[in-house]
Amino acid sequence: MDARSIMGHTVHRGLSMNRYFVFLFISFRFAYGDVSYSIAEEMKRGSLIGNIAKDVGLGIATLSSRKARIDTDRNGKRYCDINLSTGDLITTDRVDREGLCGKKATCVLKEELVLENPLELHRINVHVQDINDNAPQFSEDLISFEIGESADKGARFLLTEAHDADIGTNTVQRYNLQNNAHFTIDAGGSGRKHPELVLVKKLDREQEKELKLVLTALDGGSPQRSGTAIIHVTVLDANDNAPVFSQAVYEASLPENAPSGTLIITVSASDADTGPNGDITYIFDHVSDDHVSLFSLDQRTGDIRVFGTIDYEIETSIELRIRAKDGPGLASYCTVIIDITDVNDNPPAITLKSMTNPIPENVSPGTEVG
Ligand SMILES: *[C@@H]1O[C@H](CO)[C@@H](O)[C@H](O)[C@H]1NC(C)=O
Repeated sequence: MDARSIMGHTVHRGLSMNRYFVFLFISFRFAYGDVSYSIAEEMKRGSLIGNIAKDVGLGIATLSSRKARIDTDRNGKRYCDINLSTGDLITTDRVDREGLCGKKATCVLKEELVLENPLELHRINVHVQDINDNAPQFSEDLISFEIGESADKGARFLLTEAHDADIGTNTVQRYNLQNNAHFTIDAGGSGRKHPELVLVKKLDREQEKELKLVLTALDGGSPQRSGTAIIHVTVLDANDNAPVFSQAVYEASLPENAPSGTLIITVSASDADTGPNGDITYIFDHVSDDHVSLFSLDQRTGDIRVFGTIDYEIETSIELRIRAKDGPGLASYCTVIIDITDVNDNPPAITLKSMTNPIPENVSPGTEVG
């Protein structure tokens, strides 16, 4: 059957006739009551809209004899037709409310029932109801943020809103954020469409460098539809950690007269921050000038070496204070105790003073004489 070409022909003729009718309508005001129907969008092709013959008050026989047909003022696109043997108005094409009317609150297909002998025109308004056939959608799957760990509780970060091609309650109604310790979502009251991410617990980069949270937008349709995006938060470092020495007190022993350059001990501190915030340098802290000339401290490695002559006979133990500081200047301290060990570098010396101590000749053996 060549229904398509017949239909095309009808439509074409309909268009030119239509102007004629509009003219007639205005001139002679031959108006009949409007007929209104309401259908859900996306109904199957061939679905019943209503019985137009009954609603207009025409017998089935009259439909054929008066050449009843459906016309439209749109460019050739016809969404419904009349079945002449039943008087039913049926859909002839997919009716997509979003395609026809977008975000308009009401969507009406305007058709006309045309009868001849005498000419008679009935306007048909088919109200297309939205169904929840579209899910909320975010414009991007990944929403990235860089948030400093120093950000205060209560800080807010604006999020992109989700869109839903449907209207009314079938469009986005609320947002959900995956349960987590740091953030909640504030979808805002009336007037504000953009949801906001709200910091409820301070971030700590040393605990968690990044967070990935699922954000869900939900519509109010039935069945409910949803769309998701991932919120990726990169936590930026703040200098919230001071260097920490591996030991508060380091102990080492050093033989006196150790050759210059001998490594005594290495102190070591670590800093949980990154970059300059975690960059450590070591320096002597309040070390006497005498000792500064005896020891060297490597600023980067923490190596302590001897560089002078140490004499056990002068000092048996030396205490040094060392400071580790990071880039911005947070510092901590440690103590290095160096035990100087004796080396046999001195010959025995006997100091004799002359003395006179007379003893009698009969002195018994064992008597101390000096
Ligand atoms: C009109 O309706 C009848 C009865 O439902 C059906 O048999 C016939 O195929 C329909 N005609 C058209 C053109 O759809």
